[in-house]
Amino acid sequence: MQTNLSVQIRKTATQFHKTEKNGLVEQFDKIHVEQRIYLAAVMRKEIVVSGIRSTGYLHLGNYFGAMRNYVKMQDDYNCYFFVADYHSLTTHPKPEDLKKNVFRVVAENIASGLDPNKVVLYAQSDIPEIPELYLMLNMLAYKGELEKVPTFKDKVRQQPDNVNAGLLTYPVLMAADILIHRAVKVPVGKDQEQHLEMARNFAQRFASRYGDLFPEPIPFNFGNELIKIQSLDGNGKMSKSENLNATIYLTDDDDAIRKKIMKAKSDAGPTEPNSIMPDYVSNLFMLMGLMSDPEQVNKYRTAFNDCTIRYGDMKKQLAEDVIKFLAPIRDKAKELQQDETLLRKILKDGAERARESATATLSAARRMIGINYY
Ligand code: TYM
Repeated sequence: MQTNLSVQIRKTATQFHKTEKNGLVEQFDKIHVEQRIYLAAVMRKEIVVSGIRSTGYLHLGNYFGAMRNYVKMQDDYNCYFFVADYHSLTTHPKPEDLKKNVFRVVAENIASGLDPNKVVLYAQSDIPEIPELYLMLNMLAYKGELEKVPTFKDKVRQQPDNVNAGLLTYPVLMAADILIHRAVKVPVGKDQEQHLEMARNFAQRFASRYGDLFPEPIPFNFGNELIKIQSLDGNGKMSKSENLNATIYLTDDDDAIRKKIMKAKSDAGPTEPNSIMPDYVSNLFMLMGLMSDPEQVNKYRTAFNDCTIRYGDMKKQLAEDVIKFLAPIRDKAKELQQDETLLRKILKDGAERARESATATLSAARRMIGINYY
């Protein structure tokens, strides 16, 4: 059991004792005291929600921005993690691809260390309460603010022939995903920061119109700062659908990883000691910091500062470290994808558990809005 949880259990035990004296917990009377304390501690865990769109292959950005946090949070929080398959419909995937992508996202999450017994892992489309809450929140979202969202503007540029209403209201569906479980923490990468701000706005608007129901969710990363992994060519971020040759995917084989990293943007190196690092070089250092031995990072940082760095050597080292890091995840994910029966069972169990929490929130929302006629 994790230390945080033990501390929480001790705190809860004291509070529980006080509540018990007030006679408020008769329903627990028959349960053994330790079980009661544990149950109460579990019930008091903070709620966490996050999702990944099933639009393509997952990459290092998804891993370090989101999945690594999911794994670290699974013991100490009450976690709901899902595949955002409705969100992926904005780009009109073929039905057979959608299905494959959903299974792959589930397999890659488990291969990265997520335990479906510790977290609730489900597909967004299995929870009908989400689109119902989305509909309610749409009445609190304004066209003007949605049109200003940078991710919407990017999509308009990328797919001018398919600017559908789902793209415009994307942040509202995302808010519904989060608020349906009344989450307080949302582990995401830096690119989702503004969507989280909008989710907080919708929660506030709901509160001022109908009363308190939703906590205001905050974006979360264990390193404090939200992470953005840049693409290796220095153009934007690693992505499922763009910069394919400059993005490292969890499915990439060793050769592909070597090729992509050796081609990563660099330059002739600094000419002045202690120069400012260009973005594309700090990105390589960030990747090294995440996957290499700290000694290697120090070695190359010193070489950068005293102008002796050879980027070729640094990239070779980085490529081998990335391979070492990714190979077990890649192999495990491949193996899991062969077992569709298992993946289907995980999604079915997850959907049942996610709906318990979703129906409770939705019936409160309906009542508060006034939709309870009989
Ligand atoms: P998606 O599928 O694009 O990405 C999944 C997660 O990976 C993070 N991420 C990155 N982090 C760092 N560097 C990068 N280059 C990088 N690329 C992606 C994302 O920030 C995200 O955490 N809208 C969301 C999916 C979603 C969601 C939600 C997330 C739907 N509903 C509710 C949280 C809560 C998305 O498209 O993520």
